Amino acid sequence: MTLQKAAVFASGTGSNFQAMIDQKDLPCEISLLVCDKAEAPVIDKARKKGISIYLVDPKSYPSKQDYEKEILRELHALGIEWIFLAGYMRLIGSTLLNVFSGKILNIHPSMLPNFPGLDAIGQALEAGVSKTGVTVHFVDEGMDTGPVIIQESVPILKQDTKETLTKRIQQVEHRLYVKAIQLVINKEGVLYEKNSID
Ligand code: GRF
Repeated sequence: MTLQKAAVFASGTGSNFQAMIDQKDLPCEISLLVCDKAEAPVIDKARKKGISIYLVDPKSYPSKQDYEKEILRELHALGIEWIFLAGYMRLIGSTLLNVFSGKILNIHPSMLPNFPGLDAIGQALEAGVSKTGVTVHFVDEGMDTGPVIIQESVPILKQDTKETLTKRIQQVEHRLYVKAIQLVINKEGVLYEKNSID
């Protein structure tokens, strides 16, 4: 059986990307890294594993539409069917959304709809809540607003600093993203209409 091909979009460190490519029984092939930052450490992780890298600078295009059309051309050329956002610091626009409807996933370090947007871990610490968590969701046109696939909560300990909490959240992220991919690709009881399968 040939595996469906996926592209990971990332702008930074790429620890989630690393977790995916290290996973032996992922039900798809991570065939491409799409990156919008030439200096992002994730690029080296792809290079080490021999995964194709598509480095694309949004500033070289007159509009978001043109930028995404260029990415779309590459995705089609490689037969990519899934997009996994992992620390990709841009909103996906209609050019990609229309073509990959229901096929774009994102991971966010909070229990959405709580603490969307930037610095979700800092937001949770600032709010003084006793727990936060991780969400993997389908992507729509909003910022961290699409239907939830899976969530897991992470307690905030009294002695937690941003660093210690981030570390524990990342451990959950790496496991949860792989699980979400398995759920959506194997269609194991995904209740799209209820916006949750947890
Ligand atoms: C993760 O915390 C993810 O939830 C958020 O961006 C971060 C990316 O981390 N969307 P990494 O680059 O995968 O290490």
